[in-house]
Amino acid sequence: MDLRVLYHPGVVVHGSRCDVKLPRRKPSPRRSAVRLVLLVVAAVALASCSSVLPQSSLNPKSVETQKIDELWRLVLGIATFIFVAVQLALVVSIVKWRSREGDDTEPRQIHGNTRLEIVWTLIPAVILAVVAVPTLRTLFELRAPAEGDVLRVKVTGHQWWWEFEYPDIVGPDGRPLVTANELHIPAGKTTELEMTSVDVIHSFWVPPLAGKRDLVPGRLTYLKLTPLESAAGEVIPGQCAEYCWLGHADMRFRVFVDAPADFDAWAAAQLEPAQVPTEGPAAAGFETFMGTCTACHQAKVANPDGTVEVVGTRIGPDLTHFGSRATLGAAILENTDEHLRAWIDDPSQLKAMAPELNDLQAGRVLGMPDYGLTPQQISELVALLQSWK
Ligand code: CUA
Repeated sequence: MDLRVLYHPGVVVHGSRCDVKLPRRKPSPRRSAVRLVLLVVAAVALASCSSVLPQSSLNPKSVETQKIDELWRLVLGIATFIFVAVQLALVVSIVKWRSREGDDTEPRQIHGNTRLEIVWTLIPAVILAVVAVPTLRTLFELRAPAEGDVLRVKVTGHQWWWEFEYPDIVGPDGRPLVTANELHIPAGKTTELEMTSVDVIHSFWVPPLAGKRDLVPGRLTYLKLTPLESAAGEVIPGQCAEYCWLGHADMRFRVFVDAPADFDAWAAAQLEPAQVPTEGPAAAGFETFMGTCTACHQAKVANPDGTVEVVGTRIGPDLTHFGSRATLGAAILENTDEHLRAWIDDPSQLKAMAPELNDLQAGRVLGMPDYGLTPQQISELVALLQSWK
């Protein structure tokens, strides 16, 4: 049974178990119209309340999104013109040729008008052809491989975090710069992302800098970002835009658009190893780190004797410079001691994950488990990780 029939005022439905007698009350058309107008005005007003729109695609901050924005404005302009012209013609027709009181002559009956049909087929075809030229040009420009002085970054999607590797920024040990969930790129220069996934399809989306592009297991996809020089210093939030199960909504990241000198300084610091502490809570934290965290996490550490080694397994995010990151848990929380303590204590409390389904042998990881560490062990780990700037 169609419930809309039941709820229509004045309609009484017989012959079913749900006979309903509704009061016969005519809705006033004027009141309905006033309500509708108020609703639209409120919706428009409320939508413009926020001036903080970090993920607006209407605020382009890269060469690529400026091109997309120009195309969008052109198409919006043409579409607005057509909409207004059609609505005007419609209103004029309704008013001018409406049936009038006392005039019951039947209008002339017409079937088919070849000239009119040709015209209204040709006009849209011409408009679409005109729009197709800049559209295809923009598509090809965005798809073309990056040329010249390009920074390459390998992006790997994981359920539910992002790994960023800079293959051309390599330390003296031959190990490239690796980080997680926070992508640093220089302003005024093109970065080309080479993307793939280790599990399911994800999608890299940071609207002010680029369109969406999927990360597909077993395939490589590419995305160019050329932040404007004026965007230097900005931190732009991005997120996964392809449903990838439990933690999808919390598979976020941040793009730090750095001034070139700041980017170089950041990259140089990231290539340095983390110090193995020799005393205090951080030293005890390192014991726990080696005994527990290294099952999934990796870090490049400098031992007290000066030797540098990479410890752990590269399954989860690299933690070498965890303390230098602004966020944790794939950019869902600010990186504070308190948040880190809560995260280590029970990660699934803060983010939907399924660590009970982890199978390291099979390479399946669906989140960080609760290892049941004592509050003291957690505090020591926090001291260690936050010291690794
Ligand atoms: Cu990854 Cu949604």
